[in-house]
Amino acid sequence: MNLRNFLDQSFSKALVAAGAPEGTSGMVRPSAKANFGDYQSNGVMPVAKKLGMNPRDFAQKVIDQVELDGIADKLEIAGPGFINITLNPQWVAEQLSAFDDRCGAEKQNPQTIAVDYSAPNVAKEMHVGHLRSTIIGDAVVRVLEFLGHKVVRCNHIGDWGTQFGMLIAHLEELMRDNPDVMQSELSDLEEFYRESKQKYDSDEAFALRARGYVVKLQGGDPWCNDMWRKLVDVTMDQNQKTYDRLNVTLSKDNTMGESMYNDMLPGVVEELKAKGLAEESEGAMVVFLDEFKNKDGERMGVIIQKKDGGFLYTTTDIACAKYRHEQLNADRVLYFIDSRQAQHLQQAWTILRKAEVIPEAMSLEHHAFGMMLGKDGRPFKTRSGGVVKLSDLLDESKERAAALIEEKSTELTEEQKQAVIDAVSIGAVKYADLSKNRTTDYIFEWDNMLSFEGNTAPYLQYAYTRVASVFRKAEVDMTSFEGEVAISEAAERTLAIKLMQFSEIVDSVAKEGTPHVLCSYLYELSGNFMTFYEACPINKDGVAEDVRASRLALSKLVANTLKTGLDLLGIKVVDRM
Ligand code: ARG
Repeated sequence: MNLRNFLDQSFSKALVAAGAPEGTSGMVRPSAKANFGDYQSNGVMPVAKKLGMNPRDFAQKVIDQVELDGIADKLEIAGPGFINITLNPQWVAEQLSAFDDRCGAEKQNPQTIAVDYSAPNVAKEMHVGHLRSTIIGDAVVRVLEFLGHKVVRCNHIGDWGTQFGMLIAHLEELMRDNPDVMQSELSDLEEFYRESKQKYDSDEAFALRARGYVVKLQGGDPWCNDMWRKLVDVTMDQNQKTYDRLNVTLSKDNTMGESMYNDMLPGVVEELKAKGLAEESEGAMVVFLDEFKNKDGERMGVIIQKKDGGFLYTTTDIACAKYRHEQLNADRVLYFIDSRQAQHLQQAWTILRKAEVIPEAMSLEHHAFGMMLGKDGRPFKTRSGGVVKLSDLLDESKERAAALIEEKSTELTEEQKQAVIDAVSIGAVKYADLSKNRTTDYIFEWDNMLSFEGNTAPYLQYAYTRVASVFRKAEVDMTSFEGEVAISEAAERTLAIKLMQFSEIVDSVAKEGTPHVLCSYLYELSGNFMTFYEACPINKDGVAEDVRASRLALSKLVANTLKTGLDLLGIKVVDRM
């Protein structure tokens, strides 16, 4: 159950019963401090002010109306009219005892949600910007599916554009020398791209051929199309290796690149023309938007078709959103794209809205993120200033994790060690990204992300092994164990309420697209468990059988929640490390 929503609804009802207008929000939040209770309703003050009543008097009326018998132990008016809510531990214990492997999370009203993420470019190495989109997008996808939504993973790869002329011309030359080049030499895509560009810039005959191929490719020439397809496939084969290594749920079936919308583009331009939005300007088709001003304060023109007939990135995104409405029937579209493309998206959407290409109710959301920076606070690059290849990054993570585990986990078998190294090295890189509020830039630092202390993957993975070891010591099988939760100690109470909050946390990740909220939650949960474990003995002599059973039950709930939560983040757990 989403406890916060439940309390919010209870208070909303009570506010209305006490005289507030229909639909007044209870404004319930978890309390910031323990002495303010577990939750707080802040809905009284704004209403009391409007009704011209003393807020504390009105708060009392609300308390008289609210129906939380047996659920809340104490409702207290604080300060100018806050209501502090202290939950009844007995009720909390009953709720927890009924938890199954969903850890209290409920399915939501199912929606169709298209998630646009990863989106690398063909014949280019996936760079760190795509890493952020891939990791954050995939976590949100997992959360949405967990909550029962129909998710369409859209990998909007950059697989179209005039650059394909030179790429095809270059590939043609390489294949002439070595027919098997696709298998062997194309492992370095950056290099391939650079060479193509170099030839294009320096060799007139090559450039001419390249430009010819662009025209042929656009005209549907089978040979050019075949060469293009080779380039797409070799790129996506390489990316798939990265996805698999990263434990990201994308597969080839999810590739919905820019080229997919090619056939729609002329129609989109026609439609915008017919609706009086697009007009000819200096030979190009342009949509002028009052909503966007250039630096001279003039309204901005968005080109949707160039003078030479070519279409643009924006035209594709307009067509693509239309497709997601007409073909996918999407209720929401979530775009995980770096913040530098904010204006691009806003322009495409403004045009879509003005032209009523998609219904009002369809939600288009840019879940933007900042850049990944190096230790020096500058964009993350190799020492020589090149893009950091993801495969190199993951290799380094593995090496570092191996050194760490070698030193720390001396009692593991070789096989166990390998599992730990895998889980930790991938988990650390992903978690470092996921745990930061995605809107800001973040500094990529090996030492922090691979530390067993602080808000890191290894810390959470370690917390999980601690729970597992409690069960090993108790000689109880965790999976089959069942026990009633009963709460008496303060540390049990704190832990129990935290466990109750998993549901509202995943709901908020689904709504806002912010996995860092789940990370902070899991980190706090682990902290609460450590405190509980210190304060409430389980495997010591003299602990009563029912107390021990309850503590084991709480521990199992912690393990389940950690495992489920980390799984939603695409991070694995191990039983020992
Ligand atoms: N391929 C693009 C890039 O590398 C990202 C595409 C994002 N998705 C979209 N619908 N525009 O910048």
